[in-house]
Amino acid sequence: MKSRFLVANWKSNKTIAEADSWLESFKSPAGDHTIILCAPFTLLHFLHERNRALVLSAQDVSPFGQGSYTGEINAQQLKELVDWVIIGHSERRANFGETDDILKQKVLQAKSAGLRVIFCVSDERETVPEDADIVAYEPVSAIGSGQSEDPRASNEIIARLKERIKIPIGLYGGSVTPDNVASFIRQPAIDGVLVGGVSLDAAKFLQLIENASIS
Ligand code: 13P
Repeated sequence: MKSRFLVANWKSNKTIAEADSWLESFKSPAGDHTIILCAPFTLLHFLHERNRALVLSAQDVSPFGQGSYTGEINAQQLKELVDWVIIGHSERRANFGETDDILKQKVLQAKSAGLRVIFCVSDERETVPEDADIVAYEPVSAIGSGQSEDPRASNEIIARLKERIKIPIGLYGGSVTPDNVASFIRQPAIDGVLVGGVSLDAAKFLQLIENASIS
């Protein structure tokens, strides 16, 4: 079985106490999959110290380097705590006005600090900076709605996307659950999943990983 990327995106959820109890329940699962946890900035130091085996990701990065950019977290700061960063999530594009130019700057900053990038698109025609490491296709209608896309349709879109942008790893995201994960993982062009809501519950996320492992 091909090793897959199973990526948890906590979005803007969890206090330190809640992250602590999630870790208590999340015993590192067996298997060859790469499991990445994308946590809020406020939890990254805690998670890094508490469990050095966790592969951590940020959910965003400043488009600028160090300097007078009040409120921003830059790529060098993140590199002390994480290996990965999500850039271009549709929630950031929609709620924070992130444009293709800003996203390109973020990718440049991340790569120059040695971070690896999961770049999100909600449509196969969207621009993807060439330095991204993974592309994640997340149709907006599927995010948080309980209505995942048809896995065969996602597979075709991800296959065309990977071919166009020459990035070999493509994920699907949008209402992935323990019940439907296998149907995505089985598709030849889908190299993993990006999971929001289900990842907040350690037991459900473990179940999702387990179901991905037997598919
Ligand atoms: P849900 O799994 O909650 O639909 O969220 C998907 C997502 O946006 C992951 O980045």
